[in-house]
Amino acid sequence: MDYYDVVNSRRTIRDFDNVSINDETVERIISAAMKAPSNDHMRDWHYVVIKDKNVVLKLIDRIPKTISEEEIGAILKDWNLNDTCQQNVYKDAIPKQYRMFAEASCVVIPLFKQKTDLMHPENLSHLNGFASIWCSIENMLLAATAEGYAATLRIPLGNEGEWARAVLNFPEDYLMPCFIAIGKPRSDAVRLTQKEHPLDQVIHRNRW
Ligand SMILES: Cc1cc2nc3c(=O)[nH]c(=O)nc-3n(C[C@H](O)[C@H](O)[C@H](O)COP(=O)(O)O)c2cc1C
Repeated sequence: MDYYDVVNSRRTIRDFDNVSINDETVERIISAAMKAPSNDHMRDWHYVVIKDKNVVLKLIDRIPKTISEEEIGAILKDWNLNDTCQQNVYKDAIPKQYRMFAEASCVVIPLFKQKTDLMHPENLSHLNGFASIWCSIENMLLAATAEGYAATLRIPLGNEGEWARAVLNFPEDYLMPCFIAIGKPRSDAVRLTQKEHPLDQVIHRNRW
């Protein structure tokens, strides 16, 4: 696939066929992830790849399995989400948070090393490691697309990150920025429309 075809066709998918993914495909996706730019030239990243359903189910056990319409409405209100396009994404995404990982072909937990307190950075440089792993994550999402798979991700809430550390046994000095699910899109998978931003409104030539 041409680079721009990959970029243009990558979409967050949360409805997967329950099919397997082979190790060679996973390795190409992780290899692409490892090609991302890194702030310190170290690319000190690790990826826990989980295909064993028992481990996946244990890992996601802290993610709410069901959520009512009322609770979704309360979240939208609480987070002040007034844009209809944005509301549609959340209405689709919130009830699928558990299922999308349970049905994925594999779950990947990227890990990066953080030397300072991520929650209390003193300057932007203290966030460089965090920024770099997100470059790696985007490479992974694009590579999954190029391989005919799709992906979604979730930011760990509450104690989900600490639970993941306990289940997967990753070291204290590595942090997980998110959970990633990679899978084959179901034939009826929802592909929500990306919010339109005409280029002439976002490109500012020579000055804003
Ligand atoms: C930093 C970040 C955090 C995200 N968190 C979640 C999440 O917790 N759960 C989820 O289902 N999707 C999550 N997403 C996916 C977004 O909802 C999705 O990228 C967005 O709706 C745009 O859709 P698209 O990826 O198809 O363009 C996140 C994406 C990013 C970049």
